[in-house]
Amino acid sequence: MRRNGEMKLGLYLVQAGYHEGAWRDPSASADGGIDIEHYARMTSMVEDAAFHFVFFADTPSVVERDNASISRSGRNDGFEPITLLSALSSRTKNVGLVATATTTYNQPYHLARMLASLDRLSAGRAGWNIVTSGFQSEAPNFGESELPDHDARYSRAREFVQVVKGLWDSWEDTAFIRDKKTGIYADTSKLHVLKHQGEHLSVRGPLNTARPPQGYPVLVQAGASETGLAFAAELGEVVFTAEPSIENGKCYYKKFKEKVRAAGRDDDQALIMPGIIPLVGRTTEEALSKLQSLQSNTHLDVQLETADRWLGLVTDLRSIDLDSLVPEVLPRTNLIQSRQKVLLDLAARQKFTWRQLIRFISDSKGHLLVVGTPDEIVKAMVQRYDEHAADGFNVLPAVVPGALKDFVELVVPELRRQGRFRSRYSGHTLRDNLGLKRPLNQFVQPNAKSGPK
Ligand SMILES: Cc1cc2nc3c(=O)[nH]c(=O)nc-3n(C[C@H](O)[C@H](O)[C@H](O)COP(=O)(O)O)c2cc1C
Repeated sequence: MRRNGEMKLGLYLVQAGYHEGAWRDPSASADGGIDIEHYARMTSMVEDAAFHFVFFADTPSVVERDNASISRSGRNDGFEPITLLSALSSRTKNVGLVATATTTYNQPYHLARMLASLDRLSAGRAGWNIVTSGFQSEAPNFGESELPDHDARYSRAREFVQVVKGLWDSWEDTAFIRDKKTGIYADTSKLHVLKHQGEHLSVRGPLNTARPPQGYPVLVQAGASETGLAFAAELGEVVFTAEPSIENGKCYYKKFKEKVRAAGRDDDQALIMPGIIPLVGRTTEEALSKLQSLQSNTHLDVQLETADRWLGLVTDLRSIDLDSLVPEVLPRTNLIQSRQKVLLDLAARQKFTWRQLIRFISDSKGHLLVVGTPDEIVKAMVQRYDEHAADGFNVLPAVVPGALKDFVELVVPELRRQGRFRSRYSGHTLRDNLGLKRPLNQFVQPNAKSGPK
């Protein structure tokens, strides 16, 4: 599907909202993180608005390092995403369901089953955000003191995805014949045993569940370092980015699509969806006052911890003069390299002091934050779409339901009026809705008679 002027939209939903101070907002439900009704309400709000998907991020650890920030963080009583989306699959009909799961601290057999099950439960609406564990706090939960090296994590991820695809292809689409007369349930001529032996993984297969309805759930990736970008270009069908600058976004877009083509893929089968945090007001002043209210709810301990983490744990912000200018470079991190770069680029462009950068990270973590009227938000989105910095957006409401409701009620209608967003679902599966092809089974010759479509 070629670009037709209509952007894709996903909801990136985090408990009470993406802002670190969201849970304290008078409009937020502070216990939303563990309330299925809260997630069901937010999800149906975007399903009614024909969003392409709802997305849940994940880190299998408590990321804050000290009790002062743990005690003030609203992040540590959430759901595991595949479990949550499995529950939401029975309460929704059309919206895509994208779960994060790490390749660093999982086994491919487990994930292949769980994601195939989610795809089946939702009749073809699952997506997998493939991550490589960017937080040091994860390692000790899985028997390691340090995260594996950045590039080694990508090397395992590459092999991991290859194995998961091989497991999803264990059974051809028409393998389960379930013939009561003959007593033959499965046609074993359509069974493929993987027998994978690689550098990081050894997995025999086959998978004990049918091929997912979409062939493979939609593969989502967010690599942005050189290694990460190469990985995303090989397999990402939706690519998440965090990039506040339109110029950098255009460069990323161009470079990424070139790499996709160089990998032998059709570049419209890899959609770039940067994050946007829209804070809507009837006037710019009203929107700004919403931001200020969220900021006043975010304790300095939480801001410092969040900033240290997203800068890759290479500073100790508690011992820095917060009113001094941020340096142009910091020691290279083994954690999320590209985010450190995005944040330092921005600080250099804006000549930020540490205090300003810390606040910016607490507000946005490096995503595009647009605080303004619906027209201003629409303009920022349309410009990025038209100038090839985005194929759509991952919408991160700063606080829910308030900021999401504002976006759906005030921004989406204007996008529609300008022909930039659809008003209904165009297909049944997430692939259909995103215009992504259903992958063939790798063990079947393209012309062989197999598969439902
Ligand atoms: C929108 C978005 C969502 C992400 N969600 C997660 C997540 O849930 N868990 C995680 O470990 N990393 C997450 N990441 C981080 C990416 O997986 C990746 O590590 C990061 O974009 C940078 O990769 P790099 O190591 O190539 O610099 C996310 C990134 C973006 C842009």
